[in-house]
Amino acid sequence: MLSNIKTIALQGLDGIIITIEVDITEGMPSWEIVGLPDASIKESRERIKSAIKNSGIEFFNKKYIVNLSPADIRKEGAMLDLPIAVGVLASTGILSEGEFNDTIFIGELALDGSVRKVNGVLPICIEALKYGIKKVIVPIENANEAAVVQNLEVYGVSNLIQVVNFLNKKINLQRTIVDIEKFFKKTEKDILNFSEVSGQENVKRALEVAAAGSHNCLLVGAPGSGKTMMARRVTTILPDLTFEESLQITKIHSIAGKIKGENEALITRRPFRSPHHTISPHGIIGGGKIPKPGEISLAHNGVLFLDELPEFSRNTLEVLRGPLEDRVVTISRVGASLSYPCNFMLIASMNPCPCGYYGSSEKECTCDERKRNMYRARISGPLLDRIDIQIDVPSVKYNNFKNSVSESSEEIKSRVDKARKIQNERYNNLGIFSNSELTPKLIRKFCTLNLESENIMQKAFEKFKFSARAYSRILKLARTIADLDGKENIEAVHITEAIQYRCLDKS
Ligand SMILES: Nc1ncnc2c1ncn2[C@@H]1O[C@H](COP(=O)(O)OP(=O)(O)OP(=O)(O)O)[C@@H](O)[C@H]1O
Ligand SMILES: [Mg+2]
Ligand SMILES: [Zn+2]
Repeated sequence: MLSNIKTIALQGLDGIIITIEVDITEGMPSWEIVGLPDASIKESRERIKSAIKNSGIEFFNKKYIVNLSPADIRKEGAMLDLPIAVGVLASTGILSEGEFNDTIFIGELALDGSVRKVNGVLPICIEALKYGIKKVIVPIENANEAAVVQNLEVYGVSNLIQVVNFLNKKINLQRTIVDIEKFFKKTEKDILNFSEVSGQENVKRALEVAAAGSHNCLLVGAPGSGKTMMARRVTTILPDLTFEESLQITKIHSIAGKIKGENEALITRRPFRSPHHTISPHGIIGGGKIPKPGEISLAHNGVLFLDELPEFSRNTLEVLRGPLEDRVVTISRVGASLSYPCNFMLIASMNPCPCGYYGSSEKECTCDERKRNMYRARISGPLLDRIDIQIDVPSVKYNNFKNSVSESSEEIKSRVDKARKIQNERYNNLGIFSNSELTPKLIRKFCTLNLESENIMQKAFEKFKFSARAYSRILKLARTIADLDGKENIEAVHITEAIQYRCLDKS
């Protein structure tokens, strides 16, 4: 009997429906898989045979032909185990129904017949809806993640015999239903807060501006000045995620195998990623034989924190440039290329010099000028070009520690939210969302200066010898500062503040 089972394969975030046809023909017992399977799928034969036998299901030693179509798409990974096994059982008549047209099967099989969790279940289920699929059978550990897609009937299974009995209507399985609202409810204890940061008003303000206009930001300061501590709290002052943004994040994390436990079935916090400086270019942009999203995509809709920026390899920093501009990354591979979104806010930190204490009131710097310049030159001009804010982080004085009462993240966030709303309305039809995305043409339109501001700008350029590239950065920042201030036009105070955020440019 010819059987017909469906599943979905991912190419990046896109799903392609795969039909698995199994036929039994006359001849010597054998088992052939055709239709561009990769090595892991060829190996599935042995896993599936063992899983069937060890589940106590009769295995007929016959000549099987398993055809995976469409044939021109490369199929990878062990998640085809379960659909192939179901196809084989259907072809031998063990399943009373041979076709399940509105159902897909996903799962890896262990030799004892248990069904193992796999990666990418959320994007697969989202894509399944597009193909008119109504039911999915998934590993029990992936059931919550699948059920985030509310219009699908999701059944989680732990082993093959359960699948057989369910399909033969001998047992009932509980449909998995998740409460989306629950994921969005914040639990108090696990949230960092800016109220824990004493003093540093200037830096916190700079981060507020960064968050308000989605500007990339570089923190320059001595060891222990709190750069890492503050960077970690930036996600707490960014606007709440929409459901759509949560889905985008979760899809990427799902493919990368980073969804753990049912509490994470839907990621509702903005991600904060802080890869170590030894990371490879592949690790940062993504890649591998079956291309996985890199750190920049895992940071999508959140923050990518590069601590000790000059320590990252030149190659790693270079590959960042394109994605920072495009907000999407394309990973090339044999025969095809995949794209993953990577719209993140970059927060980076560095010491002012190799010893860390240049300009510090605490300790004397032991580096000469040549060393300092070499250190800074490790960050290329084109990368700096994409960082709107550069801010000095001074060491905190003991008195500041003791006496200060700090504003909470919630208070800062409420101002950020307002400024974002203004930008959303202003850029409604322009395909951008924030001031950081302004193009030269749009800067001319939305960042005009009055005479007074023009004068301040000119004086600053003469005094600090700013490079040309600083000019448009300052205008964009001034736009954000004016938005935080609820002002239609950029005024002198806004420009004056914006000029402060170019500390590396000041010679
Ligand atoms: N403003 C502050 N308020 C409260 N605690 C602070 C502050 N600044 C620093 N600390 C404390 O000092 C510790 C070290 O700060 P942090 O690791 O953020 O410094 P850093 O600038 O990243 O240093 P490094 O350059 O060595 O990485 C923090 O974990 C925190 O406990
Ligand atoms: Mg640090
Ligand atoms: Zn030094």
